[in-house]
Amino acid sequence: MARILLTGGAGYIGSHTYVALRAAGYEVTILDDFSNSDPGVIDRLVRLTGDEVDLVRGSVLYPTAVQAALSRGIDGVVHFAARKAVGESVAKPLDYFETNISGLIALMQEMKAAGVMRIVFSSTATVYGEPEVFPLTEDMPLSHTSPYAFTKVTCERVLEQAARADDWAVGVLRYFNPVGAHPSALIGEDPRGVPDNLMPYIAKVAMGELSRLQVHGNDYDTPDGTCWRDYIHVMDLARAHVQSLDALMEGRGHVLNIGTGTPVSVLEMHGAYQAVVGRELPHVIGPRRPGDVPRLYADPTKAREVLGFDAEFGLEDMCRSSWDWVQAQAAGWRFNS
Ligand code: UD1
Repeated sequence: MARILLTGGAGYIGSHTYVALRAAGYEVTILDDFSNSDPGVIDRLVRLTGDEVDLVRGSVLYPTAVQAALSRGIDGVVHFAARKAVGESVAKPLDYFETNISGLIALMQEMKAAGVMRIVFSSTATVYGEPEVFPLTEDMPLSHTSPYAFTKVTCERVLEQAARADDWAVGVLRYFNPVGAHPSALIGEDPRGVPDNLMPYIAKVAMGELSRLQVHGNDYDTPDGTCWRDYIHVMDLARAHVQSLDALMEGRGHVLNIGTGTPVSVLEMHGAYQAVVGRELPHVIGPRRPGDVPRLYADPTKAREVLGFDAEFGLEDMCRSSWDWVQAQAAGWRFNS
């Protein structure tokens, strides 16, 4: 069976994809420097799969670490390892350019030297900039409104140009808003400090760790005035990577939106989480957050046509799995416990 290298495999999406790949029969090697993940995730992966994890500890920026990982007999790479906080990227653009852009190039140089020419790349809906036409299709123009978005647009260009020169098989997956957790509640999103993103923030309000949700603006041009996003369950997203790799194994490259196509407002998300928790979660309406776009949701048709991918989980599943996960963490399932 093929062996896949997951860079950033201990992270939120990487860890769920690890489990999905193992379940699909792939062998997997993880390369991670734990700069934004907890080494305790590895034990959870052992428990979830019943098997040792093949791990190389290191950064994609260190050729020796990448070479060590590729020497395991790798047939394809899923490249998650990157920085992803928009605000931080504004403060530290060079760090983002180094990890995200130089990291991809360094990885591809080593892949090429090792003759491994299949790569699935983690991209984002942020590459569409501030679109005005919806739903978003993959042929729409790309732009960037932050250094983070710039890195993802640039990486997509790097992959495209490289594939023109050499025989790369490239799968670009543009994630919309990944949320939720594995149904075991053993792995999930574990943001450090106060979360920027909506669902982890609501989860901390539900846990009583934060006092209330601040809704960033309710005067947008949407039915309830709060921003629309396309939330996708991380279990669905993980499966999209398996299907993307399956396609690359057949030499079928692709650039795809991975979303549900169903927009959900901030207030709808808050209401759905309340319904799962079974009590009111305090919230206030605050000002708009700079840089937010009113609407961002996918046309998921192409992923269905190219990969046969369809999101299966709805909003309630997303909220319930998140709630189970944060409660399990608080109840002593913290990493390393
Ligand atoms: C953000 C990033 C995006 C990244 C994604 C990862 C920005 C501008 N975009 O997307 O690049 O890929 O996270 O999942 O940061 N909200 C509140 N109160 C809160 C938090 C969020 O009202 O405390 C609102 C936001 O204003 C937004 C919606 O919830 O309307 C979703 O926000 P968030 O979860 O941060 O995701 P995005 O902004 O879509």
